[in-house]
Amino acid sequence: MRTAFLGIGGYLPPRVVSNDELAEMMETSNEWIVERTGIRTRHWIDRECGASDLAVPASRQALADAGVAPEEIDCIILATLSPDHTFPGTACFLQEKLGLKGIPALDIRNQCSGFIYSLAVADAFIKTGQYRRILLVGAEVHSTGLDKTTRGRDVACLFGDGAGAAVLGPCEETERGVLSTHLHADGRYARELWIEVPGSRFFPQRLDVAMVEQGRHFPRMNGRRVFVEAVRRMPEVIGEALAANSLSVDDIDLFVPHQANQRITEAVAKQIGMPAEKVFSNIDKVGNTTAASIPLCLRDACLQGKLQRGHLVLLASFGAGFTWAAALLRW
Ligand code: COA
Repeated sequence: MRTAFLGIGGYLPPRVVSNDELAEMMETSNEWIVERTGIRTRHWIDRECGASDLAVPASRQALADAGVAPEEIDCIILATLSPDHTFPGTACFLQEKLGLKGIPALDIRNQCSGFIYSLAVADAFIKTGQYRRILLVGAEVHSTGLDKTTRGRDVACLFGDGAGAAVLGPCEETERGVLSTHLHADGRYARELWIEVPGSRFFPQRLDVAMVEQGRHFPRMNGRRVFVEAVRRMPEVIGEALAANSLSVDDIDLFVPHQANQRITEAVAKQIGMPAEKVFSNIDKVGNTTAASIPLCLRDACLQGKLQRGHLVLLASFGAGFTWAAALLRW
């Protein structure tokens, strides 16, 4: 018995923000952003809206795609770095909005690796028989947390809002489902890509005016370090996943990397010898949507006919923590 994707869904808020629009807010240009990141547009919310609000239509689409009624869901796992509130977890707000009372609602905080980490947890729950219909969601609202001045341009040009969702369940067909998941982290790099405040380690209070004036509540990133480590760690964990299943790159039908940056995707693909036609990207239209990025890609790949039943799919991610992960699955 394996854990299969029964349905997939996604949602992007309607407002499309071009690189030229960003250039009106900060010193940057369409040419710089396209050349360094491959991003042309991203979606940003245009009204009060949390990650859980974006998760609702994505979840409904995944449920419809699976042919599963909301009441059949027995567990929600939601990955986000942009929770609706500091606590409780965003999965609780999603549970309320979907009208699903009593079932467990779990938040996962592993940033760009959040979806694969969540998949690993869901896979374990399903394999042990604890739950049979898990709603797995990645949802992010980045736009209201970015420093949209020249000070924050390295980060602000990358991130977009959105949500992706999947319904997972046990499948008796052994040729279908998750083959394995592989998770890693290295906390020595935790401060290379982070939002420092508010934080419980600060005394006497976790947030003050000086911290805000210094911009420590905005995401900050050592872009070079992220780039170098991503291009090292993603091929490493992909090699681990392939070896664990006695498979090679030639066996893969579709490679769906986390959409961090098109240059990272291309460097990783080149390093592992994956031909460009097997690599899925939508970063040009949606930017980096962190935990939502992989499920949004899976949804788009299905819509475009690039992902079909029986395909062997390789997922890989790298992000804050640093965390990195891979998964192999038969769609
Ligand atoms: N527009 C114009 N100039 C920008 C800019 C922007 N949006 N962002 C940064 N710059 C400037 C920098 O200030 C720097 O200027 P300086 O030389 O005067 O100091 C210059 O461009 C080069 O910066 P550098 O960081 O060396 O550029 P880079 O080639 O490394 O590209 C990133 C910057 C962010 C695109 C790149 O480091 C990167 O993609 N890193 C990975 C980030 C990522 O994927 N994060 C998500 C992780 S999940």
